Amino acid sequence: MPYKVELKPSEQSFDVDAGESIVDAAHRQNIQLPYSCRDGSCGTCKGKVVGGEVKHDHYSVQALSEAELKAGMALFCQARACSDLVLEVDLNNPDIQRLPSRVDKIDHLAHDVMRLFLKLPAGKKLNYIAGQYIDIIMSDGRHRTYSIAGAPRDDGMIELHIRNVEGGRFSDFVFHHLEQKTILRIEGPMGAFYLRQDSTRPMLLVAGGTGLAPIKAIVEAAQQAGNTREIILYWGVRSRRDLYFQETVEQWAEREQFTYIPVLSEPDEGWQGRTGYVHEAVLADIDSLAQYDVYAAGPPIMVSSARTSFLEAGLPKTQIFHDAFEWALD
Ligand SMILES: Cc1cc2nc3c(=O)[nH]c(=O)nc-3n(C[C@H](O)[C@H](O)[C@H](O)COP(=O)(O)OP(=O)(O)OC[C@H]3O[C@@H](n4cnc5c(N)ncnc54)[C@H](O)[C@@H]3O)c2cc1C
Ligand code: FES
Repeated sequence: MPYKVELKPSEQSFDVDAGESIVDAAHRQNIQLPYSCRDGSCGTCKGKVVGGEVKHDHYSVQALSEAELKAGMALFCQARACSDLVLEVDLNNPDIQRLPSRVDKIDHLAHDVMRLFLKLPAGKKLNYIAGQYIDIIMSDGRHRTYSIAGAPRDDGMIELHIRNVEGGRFSDFVFHHLEQKTILRIEGPMGAFYLRQDSTRPMLLVAGGTGLAPIKAIVEAAQQAGNTREIILYWGVRSRRDLYFQETVEQWAEREQFTYIPVLSEPDEGWQGRTGYVHEAVLADIDSLAQYDVYAAGPPIMVSSARTSFLEAGLPKTQIFHDAFEWALD
């Protein structure tokens, strides 16, 4: 039997099935609860349980702390109802800006990756931390989330790396119709995937495909901050042609204290480098994961495999930060 959920202060209500997340149930019934990563890592869907009981699937302690959990807060993308519920949800986050942006430049970086540079109106700036993301609001009101592929710049330009998903509503539009000077409405910044500057631990960066975008932002932010911590970057893609930013990444690796390891899951003939799944390459190479801060971004399956296996291998859960590129609930 489904449970009943009441929202405060909006007084909306909907049903949630056993085992269904509260965000999924709300959207199924056309109630727009805020969400972004749907992976328990960003905190966008956080709210208070004022009546009833929920239990969570996995989530990151950066998105919901022990103290918040004790105070009755929950992440509704991960929370499952154990009874009828009354939830308090703030539908307006004052830190999130809505701005128009103009497509300044479009580059083909690889067969299926496009880079966009978005320019904000004169005098406007998006106050984001390297590693965070924005939503693009399409003309029909649907949202698509993209990591900002660079640390904040003086000219305020926003760089995005967009992979073409076959039949994808927004990425297909980018690949086949988007033109320079098009106006795109954006919303942000959001997300809890950013460089922890107060740590002295070496950094292990794990990217899958365009998961390199927020990792690039983090590398740039570390460099701007005069980082002297060791950085190891594993970049997992299918084949050599998917290493769409190889030249830049190889330049990073010329620096001291920076190691770069590309990993191909479907290697081309003659490839001499690492093969297989990227998280398995990390586990094969590194015995003592607990000494690192781990930043992982990319396809949901890669991020969840990395998270589960790294925690099992002894990485404390306070030392892993991640963004899974979950697709939108339309
Ligand atoms: C926090 C976050 C950051 C992100 N950052 C980036 C980024 O920097 N670069 C980037 O390219 N993408 C990123 N994404 C993914 C992005 O938001 C879109 O999901 C993606 O571009 C597909 O959108 P679309 O409109 O083209 O496809 P949709 O219209 O959403 O999807 C079309 C169909 O494809 C399926 N589908 C969607 N995505 C995938 C997938 N990855 N694999 C398999 N099937 C899929 C859907 O189920 C649907 O049936 C991010 C997502 C999140 C949550
Ligand atoms: S949407 Fe729930 S934590 Fe990101």
